[in-house]
Amino acid sequence: MMTITRRSFMEMAIALSAIAAWGQPTATRSKVPWHERRDFYPEGVASGDPASDSVILWTRRPPRDSNVVDRLHVEVAEDESFTRVVASAEAPLSEASDWTCRVLAGGLKPARIYWYRFTDATGYGSRVGRTITAPPDDDTRPVRFAFVCCQNANQGAQNAYRRMIFEDERAAEEDRLGFVLHLGDFIYEIVWYPEDRPQGMYDRRLRDIVRYEHGEKIRDFHIPTDVGDYRAIYRNYLHDPDLQDARARWPFVCMWDNHEFSWIGWQGLQQFGGVNRPAQTRKVAANQAFFEYQPARLYKPSGPSLDRFDPPAVVDAPIKHFDENGLGQEPNNLSAIHSLRGHRTLRWGSNMELIITDQRSYRSEEPTYRPEAQAFMSNDFPGFIPQEVLDILDAGSAYNNGHPPATIKCGSTEIANFRKDQPPTTILGVEQKAWFLDRLEKSKATWKIWGDTVATLDMRADPQNLPPGLTAAWPGAGYAGFDASTGAGDHSTAYVERGEIYDFVRDHGITGFATVAGDRHSFWAGLASKGLPPKPFEPVGIAFVTGSISAPGVVEAFEHGLPNEHPLRSLFVGQGPGDTRPQPIMNLLLKHGVRSALEYVKSGDLQKARALSNPDLSPHVSFVDMGGHGYAVVRVTSDTLETEFVCIPRPIERSERADGGPLLYRTRHRAAFWRKGERPKLQLQILEGDPRFSA
Ligand SMILES: [Fe+2]
Repeated sequence: MMTITRRSFMEMAIALSAIAAWGQPTATRSKVPWHERRDFYPEGVASGDPASDSVILWTRRPPRDSNVVDRLHVEVAEDESFTRVVASAEAPLSEASDWTCRVLAGGLKPARIYWYRFTDATGYGSRVGRTITAPPDDDTRPVRFAFVCCQNANQGAQNAYRRMIFEDERAAEEDRLGFVLHLGDFIYEIVWYPEDRPQGMYDRRLRDIVRYEHGEKIRDFHIPTDVGDYRAIYRNYLHDPDLQDARARWPFVCMWDNHEFSWIGWQGLQQFGGVNRPAQTRKVAANQAFFEYQPARLYKPSGPSLDRFDPPAVVDAPIKHFDENGLGQEPNNLSAIHSLRGHRTLRWGSNMELIITDQRSYRSEEPTYRPEAQAFMSNDFPGFIPQEVLDILDAGSAYNNGHPPATIKCGSTEIANFRKDQPPTTILGVEQKAWFLDRLEKSKATWKIWGDTVATLDMRADPQNLPPGLTAAWPGAGYAGFDASTGAGDHSTAYVERGEIYDFVRDHGITGFATVAGDRHSFWAGLASKGLPPKPFEPVGIAFVTGSISAPGVVEAFEHGLPNEHPLRSLFVGQGPGDTRPQPIMNLLLKHGVRSALEYVKSGDLQKARALSNPDLSPHVSFVDMGGHGYAVVRVTSDTLETEFVCIPRPIERSERADGGPLLYRTRHRAAFWRKGERPKLQLQILEGDPRFSA
């Protein structure tokens, strides 16, 4: 970011209609009679989207009985006791924004730690927050950040944040985090009320975290229907002490995934029971709540004010006409999805640019969610879909150079090809994709980091290698991908779009291309290639996926959902002769194949199991853990990128320990910077613990 003057900052602040706190050259002692009253600020404080000279500060101060305040005083200081205050301002509060408050603090020095706090007219003050500005564009210092996703306060505990805080407080200054990138599912809009599911979820107890005032009940869960409901779920999540402490310690950079709006949400639609229904009003409500609760530099057409969202008026009208890119042309749909733009770039020195994209607002329908596609899924092969079927479903009318088959056939199943007249799946949408590629090409940073909320690394298995007689014959021609509830529906099965992006990276000689993702509730490290054997394997970058903070993953679901007598249960959650409980054998299945998985279950000998690895199955994967929770930390320098996975036990209950509970393992995945024409490589180092089946 270029250095800005006071004048250009004020122009920017005016453009944002932001209440701006401008940094003064000389620091002064605070004269504000601040008395900390956290109960007056029940959702804590936060900061977001730091630049080298500015950051957005956030709090919420609701009325207390007759005590209604319409403005807050914000202070930014160089020290925690506010003897060196460098900026202050008055910020308005109103019911229109649910009493949330956003302030742009500018004129700050780059790569500095600042403290901030809010005080009302009677002296009741928020807790003190800590934030950090980014280094300037030409600064070569290393950058370190955490990336996280998928916290479910209804079903689990946020111990991962406690661990992150514990480690950061004890780290050497140069090893501390600069920010936390949140890749979505900050909230889960789907909530189970405890009485509706007395047996809980798997081994987890359901917490009574929210009651939607206008919620809709679907089967045994509840979903929000208006902005009041979406605000309520954010508020209740922010009452979690571990999450609230994390927001007070680091600036967050947040992007929504699906659950900020709707479980199977795409554009202004939501889907339940295989039926799409218009939900433009809910999409706008979800965007409004995101704007109010996540301090971020987002664009909204209603005007640049940081104070209020001013939602566009929309109705839930059927969306019938989709253009040649799969974008629903219904005017309320377009208004709803354009009511808040989340894709943006942020820069940290010369080493890193973060390019964040939106995977839900502009995407076309996920074909594996179509009821017709269910014909290719069977209980005999849990989660599996034949690869050749996925290829046809993804490419639509573009399949086979524009000559898609009239029917999709696999084994004895044959259905009409319902995709043959539809465009290839897009997750980014045509406009955002053009923006993304342009930013990738123009970026001057050493590492171009794509913050993609959904995973890009292929997830496949080789059921064609199953021994005969174990179960039904595999109907596919070869490899299997996975259905949408297990894996598909992300950038790993949007083959056409992913290929377009990776070809662009290759053709433009872009180096230092790394993707960080979430959504899959599992840890993955690997290489970004558009094809896998028998197609050419040509990596153009590196890619990572972080495990969930707390939401349950596939291993947990299979552990509780796959019957003991299922002939393939051991491929997913089997036990070797020496194991006393189910193990995440699925990791072996995905990295090495069915022969390795079956060998381990038979002999308990991991070495013997790995010796039977199918080298063509997953040459792109260097590490996978489908059962892991926790967070990931990235460190970039001018010549290396390292990602650390910090894995904790299943966070069923809150740990009362200062460190957030024990670690299961810590691994490091290191890539040296590669030059144009060179192949990226990843090196695995196990630092703590033993992720037995993951490599
Ligand atoms: Fe999630």
